[in-house]
Amino acid sequence: MLVLGIETSCDETAAAVIEDGRKVRSDVVASQVLVHAAYGGVVPEVASRQHLATVVPVLRAAVEKAGIGFEQLDGIAVTCGPGLVGALLVGVETAKALGYALGKPVVGVNHLAGHLAAVFLEQPQLPGPPPFPHLALLVSGGHTALFRVGGFGDVRQLGATRDDAAGEAFDKVAKLLGLGYPGGVQIDKLAAAGDATAYQFPRALPGRDDIDFSFSGLKTAVATEIARGAPGPGRPLEDFCASFQAAVVDVLVRKSRRALAREGLGDLVVCGGVAANRGLRAALAKAASEDGFQLFIPTPRLCTDNAAMIGAAGSALLARGVRAGLELSVDPGLSLETLAAG
Ligand code: KG4
Ligand code: ZN
Repeated sequence: MLVLGIETSCDETAAAVIEDGRKVRSDVVASQVLVHAAYGGVVPEVASRQHLATVVPVLRAAVEKAGIGFEQLDGIAVTCGPGLVGALLVGVETAKALGYALGKPVVGVNHLAGHLAAVFLEQPQLPGPPPFPHLALLVSGGHTALFRVGGFGDVRQLGATRDDAAGEAFDKVAKLLGLGYPGGVQIDKLAAAGDATAYQFPRALPGRDDIDFSFSGLKTAVATEIARGAPGPGRPLEDFCASFQAAVVDVLVRKSRRALAREGLGDLVVCGGVAANRGLRAALAKAASEDGFQLFIPTPRLCTDNAAMIGAAGSALLARGVRAGLELSVDPGLSLETLAAG
């Protein structure tokens, strides 16, 4: 089964061809980062126009790289939310037009379900697909949550951030430090050369059995330090970034461990853009070997937004007979709970 995945929910125009739900035949991502960097963040109207200009060439490239023609596709999977409404519309309308013209089935995919499915794609560093049930930590620019995943479409949220998402904290702190947009990758790079014990930043760990997150206090602590003149002479930027990153990573690891123990699960899937962070990956690998759980993290390219993960999640839906009609619409606020409905 060959499925074309299409992703346009934010600032990446992406298309991919997935074979049998597992094998990445092609994976094309046209990033708009340089266009938005001038504004210090994603400008929704600019994003929509960029998607319009790039979506068709990106689709053609994905099909060509997969070594097939459009007529060989068995289905089309497209992100229908959550995300920016204008950006989502470009993907969904394109998918419907293509499906209609080719006579192929189309399914709408929840972007978050896509992130959760990234780990089911064949990747050399993974032992194989994770078993069900497993715990999934989703850490992206818009979401930070822990789920118990019993199967495709069987997802229960155990906890989530009460304020900022982890990726948002990375991006806001990077902005405060004048590191530009997007900030997560910059902090990751600088942190690798820094001393994580140089600054003491707070770890918000509300309640003993609680597995919610909170990053707004950390962001305030960082802003206060910066107002006091840090990082400055003798107090390198690398140390500041390493200390901030350690505070985020520490909380993510502790809450994941707590959730694994509470739920009696032995497998942890980590996904979303922040899962590309080297500090987080290293800390989780250490925790996995100490506690004896199995860790599944997609390769960094499949952690950040891409269409291969949408193709993977969509393949599972198509295999179950799910089909969207021409009335398929976008839902910018599509919630985590609707994951349960697929
Ligand atoms: O999943 P994603 O690509 O888009 C959303 O669905 O939000 O996640 C983007 C987020 C951004 O906040 C970005 O700064 C963060 O992931 N990110 C990172 C790294 N790479 C991307 N954060 C920390 N370290 C990284 N290496
Ligand atoms: Zn995402």
